[in-house]
Amino acid sequence: MTTKTLLLLPGDGIGVETMAEVERVIAFFNKKSNKAKFETSSDLVGGAAYDKHGVAITDAAMAKADAADAVIFGAVGGPQWDAVPYEHRPEAGLLRLRKDMDLFANLRPAICYPALADASTLKREVVEGLDILILRELTGGTYFGEPKEIVTLESGEKRAVDTTVYTTREIDRLARVGFDLARKRRNKVHMAAKWNVMRTGVLWREVVTATHKAYAPDVQLEHILADNCAMQLIRNPKQFDVIVTDNLFGDVLSDEAAMMTGSLGMLPSASLGAPDSKTGKRKSLYEPVHGSAPDIAGKGLANPIATIASFAMALRYSLDMADAADMIDKAIANALAAGLRTGDIMQPGMTKVGTTDMGKAIVGQLENLVG
Ligand code: IPM
Ligand code: MG
Repeated sequence: MTTKTLLLLPGDGIGVETMAEVERVIAFFNKKSNKAKFETSSDLVGGAAYDKHGVAITDAAMAKADAADAVIFGAVGGPQWDAVPYEHRPEAGLLRLRKDMDLFANLRPAICYPALADASTLKREVVEGLDILILRELTGGTYFGEPKEIVTLESGEKRAVDTTVYTTREIDRLARVGFDLARKRRNKVHMAAKWNVMRTGVLWREVVTATHKAYAPDVQLEHILADNCAMQLIRNPKQFDVIVTDNLFGDVLSDEAAMMTGSLGMLPSASLGAPDSKTGKRKSLYEPVHGSAPDIAGKGLANPIATIASFAMALRYSLDMADAADMIDKAIANALAAGLRTGDIMQPGMTKVGTTDMGKAIVGQLENLVG
């Protein structure tokens, strides 16, 4: 039996409630599995860390994250931290984790569970059976480019600057991950960028074309303007398989894709670093795509599925436990098929449950699956 170490960073808002349901799932595996034991520790991130330590994540928590087999992250942010200095705002904790651990590849799968095809605002036939993957670059581009500042001009007027920067290496390493993923799926990559107005877009098109030629000529590649991609996602999302894109477009397009699955509360994600040259192990962090949802935080209403599915992705991509990951995905599908719904995916005739009851129902389905 091997021991896997997990760092849990629930963060703020509904992150706290949804992480409690992940702990319930972990407890299930610790009781039932003879393949691996999970050893968990937790720490603060975001506003919670700021309130206690004056920073959005401490060096000690960063060290724990570096050492863990995987980090499971909840959510950060909330209106109570609106006045916090920019460099200490809750989101800074998440951005530091991504940047310092060099988690450049962000996998955001959008899968429409059959039971939820009617929960999307799009028509059933548009989303039914949807299975696409947005691969977002996560450590470069507009999020991290310098200069990034607001300066006051001589006139007294202010001027704000964000800089979008990409190098060949950053684009190439992401494109390779995209082609590798596509090979295990439907073998199709769309590269989304704005090469018609942005120099970074020109470079993205150039580098992805070159990487494709050298590394993955067997994969089908299309380039698509990011605005057109946003439109095509609504018009006919099933034309896509893997969408490879930069940090900012990936942020926007993945929220859009999330709604096709019924709710933002359904979308997990994995953020991966490069494989270690000696061990082959990648640093990794797993988080729901949704945020801290301050409006419903602390009320027990949040959908825990995205966070539980993020834990399943950790089993699949970092912990070599694909069977357990499949089991969780099946348990989620079964709980939905049994008619259980949190408020965000509620439909007529279904049974409305809160965060805890959804977590318990998923564990109940896991128990059924192991018999
Ligand atoms: C996401 C979130 C983050 C982002 C925020 C919380 C900083 O929206 O993971 O998509 O913009 O990347
Ligand atoms: Mg986002």
